[in-house]
Amino acid sequence: MRTPTLEIHLRPDQLLESLREDVRVGLTSDPKWLAPKWFYDARGSELFEEITRLPEYYPTRTERALLQQFSDEIIETATPSVIVELGSGSSEKTRLLLDAATRAGTVRTYVPQDVSITALEGAATQISAEYPGVEVHGVVSDFTDSLHHLPAGDRRMIVFLGGTLGNLVPAERAEFLAGIADVLHPGEHLLLGVGLVTDPGVLVPAYDDAAGVTAEFNRNVLRVLNNRLGANFPVENFRHVALWDAENEWIEMRLEAEREVTVEVADLGLTVRFGAGEQIRTEISAKFTVPGIRDELDRAGFVVDRTWTDEEDRFALICAARR
Ligand code: SAH
Ligand code: AVI
Repeated sequence: MRTPTLEIHLRPDQLLESLREDVRVGLTSDPKWLAPKWFYDARGSELFEEITRLPEYYPTRTERALLQQFSDEIIETATPSVIVELGSGSSEKTRLLLDAATRAGTVRTYVPQDVSITALEGAATQISAEYPGVEVHGVVSDFTDSLHHLPAGDRRMIVFLGGTLGNLVPAERAEFLAGIADVLHPGEHLLLGVGLVTDPGVLVPAYDDAAGVTAEFNRNVLRVLNNRLGANFPVENFRHVALWDAENEWIEMRLEAEREVTVEVADLGLTVRFGAGEQIRTEISAKFTVPGIRDELDRAGFVVDRTWTDEEDRFALICAARR
């Protein structure tokens, strides 16, 4: 077996500094907020994997079914020699694309990229063992920073699955898509998996499951602050809230203080006060319409080649080429 290589563009000290800055700004803002990338320490990545197996959380299984059905068509459309996957996590569904690419004989290199080194190392090692013909080169970085360190090459396909695009606020999203367009050459591809606007009766339980796994995932961000910044959040006194914002067409996750709480963030010398019922916004998960996302891609410099959706119109895979 070839050993995967790992390239680190975000050292633990840089990650810590970025967390310190986000927490300093987010917890002194009104309303308070924390960026969703801070969910994903080793425990957070595991909790996300648990979410993907919940009966209420339809996005992963819907996207997997689309990949099972259409991976050959995707590979035929993009004919990639390099697959770069942003926010790759466990790379579980990507195997379907790698299988199709192996059948077609197009792909030489797979580049998983993630902010979570534990998730990345595990996935890169497994994929290397399973696909001896594919060179695996992991990259630890933040995909909202520059993407220019991603490998050069021709016929690259950048893959961004799971609906993670929806976790960026609209301005970040536009900048992110433009940043991808900036690193691709004309004719290279972006494969995007996005959740579609659907019945709130389906959407809300997906983010507020009966077993309480999403609640634990949400509260995990407070544990990250306790562990990494010496904060003393009484985690169990924060209630998980998930609501559908129909105007913005996104799910919003929040953590609500059940009582008045004063938190010391020791490493920042920061005291943060919460009134009873006060909330922190921890994540948005935007849902899209097919014309809406086509329009965003068009504005970023892409032309959509193909779109695949499930029968219930809950999820879309979109293959777009750089103009
Ligand atoms: N693509 C996988 C995982 C989705 S979970 C799937 O479809 O199942 C979101 C992943 O994005 C996590 O692995 C998380 O660590 C990563 N992530 C979140 N914000 C990130 C950022 N700013 N830069 C890089 N990776 C990020
Ligand atoms: C990673 N991301 C696309 C997930 C989502 O659905 O927005 C994260 C998540 N949040 C709660 N459940 C899952």
